[in-house]
Parts: sequence; C-alpha cells; structure tokens
Amino acid sequence: MREPTAPAYYDRRAREYDDWYLGHGAWVERDREGFDEELARVCETLFALPPTRSLDVACGTGFLTRHLRGEVTGLDQSSRMLEVAAGRLPHATLVQGDAFALPFPDDAFDRVVSGHFYGHVDARERAAFLREARRVAPELVLVDASREHSPVDDEWSERRLLDGSRWEVYKRYFAPDPLLGELGGGEVLHAGRWFVVVRSPRSAG
Ligand SMILES: C[S@@+](CC[C@H](N)C(=O)[O-])C[C@H]1O[C@@H](n2cnc3c(N)ncnc32)[C@H](O)[C@@H]1O
Repeated sequence: MREPTAPAYYDRRAREYDDWYLGHGAWVERDREGFDEELARVCETLFALPPTRSLDVACGTGFLTRHLRGEVTGLDQSSRMLEVAAGRLPHATLVQGDAFALPFPDDAFDRVVSGHFYGHVDARERAAFLREARRVAPELVLVDASREHSPVDDEWSERRLLDGSRWEVYKRYFAPDPLLGELGGGEVLHAGRWFVVVRSPRSAG
C-alpha cells in the first residue's frame, strides 16, 4: 500500500522501528558498513547542540530525541510511536499531532529538530512542514539519509513488516549542500555515507 506518512504504517512499524537503527530483524542481512559508527557520530552531533527548548517533529520512537539536551518536546502523529518514545524519554513532553499544522504558538521553541521525516514527504508537504517549523522556532536541524550510499536521488521502496504487511514508502537521499539550498542556507553539521545533519536559521528560509 502506498501510504508513506500515514499513521497505519508507522503504528504497525513502531515496535520494530528501532531494528533499523540497531541492525536487528530484517536489517541483519543488509550491508551496513560503517553505519553503527556513523550513527554514534550523529547522536554525538545532536548531543553537542546547546541545550535549549527543542521540538522534535515526527520524533518516532525517540531514538534520536533522547540525545537532545534542554527542555525537549517530541511530536508525532502515531500513538504507537509515542508509546515507545514515552518509555525512552521520561523527562520529555510528548504530543500527538500533525507536523503540517503544529499545535504550538509562534516561537514556542528555540529549535526544531526533525529526523528522517523531511525526506519522506512530497514537495507540497515539504513547503507546509518548513512553514510550520520556521513559525515555531528560529532554528531548524534536519537529520536525514545520505545520497552517498544510494544509487538514486529518491525512490518508492517496498517495506515488509514482521506482520507480513507490505508498504511502499517514498524516500529521498540528500547531499548536504543541495539540502541546505532547499532550506535557504545554513551549515553542515555532519556529512557521511549514511546520514546528513544540517542546521538552518529561520533567516535563511
Ligand atoms: C521514518 S520515521 C522517523 C522517526 C524519527 N524522527 C527518527 O529519525 O528515527 C517518520 C515518523 O514520522 C511520523 N509522521 C509521519 N507523518 C507525520 C505527520 N503528518 N505529523 C507528525 N508525524 C508524522 C511517523 O509516525 C514516524 O514516526
């Protein structure tokens, strides 16, 4: 089923989502040379951000969120993802909501962080997400998949869950500078084979 950002897919994937990060389950057989080391660097990069009021949009299981310091809020549309995140983030505020209509006033945060969400949405949704992210915080940090390990810029890739269901997921792969170009400018915090992390001030967008 083609339903890249629909709650059904992520609700059903929630309990097995971290297998991707941990190399468990369906990911055991994949070639992931250097993945673990790079993931550790990405986590360190997030930890190194100055502690402040952060909103992690589409926080999922909170795997990356837990490395943010300061006053942390995680938002996701999936209640199942948030259940997993709640076990991991006892001190964070977790909110079920829509990334394209954030339930917060202007400038409610100092920073929006978002991991592996921007790369799943189409051009119209991207604009809506950026508008909302820019509205609620003066800084945006994106973590996403690197173009370096992918032969294509984007694709619809099939995902099979442990319950046997099959889904088609839209996914983009980013080189850091074109990504910053889309955001209007900023700086590269991490550029690797698996991940890119960029920071973009509101003034850039
Ligand atoms: C690929 S996961 C990324 C999770 C996490 N940020 C990470 O990097 O591991 C995408 C997440 O986006 C959430 N999501 C999809 N559409 C959403 C929307 N419109 N509003 C809020 N969350 C959404 C899904 O529920 C899922 O948790």
